[in-house]
Amino acid sequence: MEKTIFIINGPNLNLLGKREKDIYGQQTLGDIEELCKEKLKNSDFSLFFCQSNSESEIINWIQRGINDALAIIINPAGFTHTSVAILDALKVFDGMVVEVHLSDISKRESFRHFSYVSERADKVIKGKGPDGYIEALDFISENLLKS
Ligand code: DQA
Repeated sequence: MEKTIFIINGPNLNLLGKREKDIYGQQTLGDIEELCKEKLKNSDFSLFFCQSNSESEIINWIQRGINDALAIIINPAGFTHTSVAILDALKVFDGMVVEVHLSDISKRESFRHFSYVSERADKVIKGKGPDGYIEALDFISENLLKS
């Protein structure tokens, strides 16, 4: 299998850089994709980086990952707090799952404190902004080296 890491981003993350900058910062999703590409440049891993506002598209990517992904990094955005269906899809995936949030959801409104995805995630990274994605890539490569 090609060593592909999927980074799946949920709704409204396409608006990073414009959206609630006091919470999510100035960087766009394109900037985050570049950071991740740069991080993997001299590694054995390839990257599939995607974003959708549609729950079904996200589930289809996770299902594709069952065959094609070595690990999945997911920022489910608003679906974090609502989607049993995304959790169910992730439960079929055998590889490592890292849940990333730019903001610290545990310190925001109470409806953001619960995450369905955390039930499946091997690691949850929150409140570190775009660096959280890099930490997720480090976590995956360190753990794959161990296995
Ligand atoms: C988010 C946190 C979610 O609560 C929110 O709905 C988002 C982004 C984050 O990255 O901090 O859209 O996942």
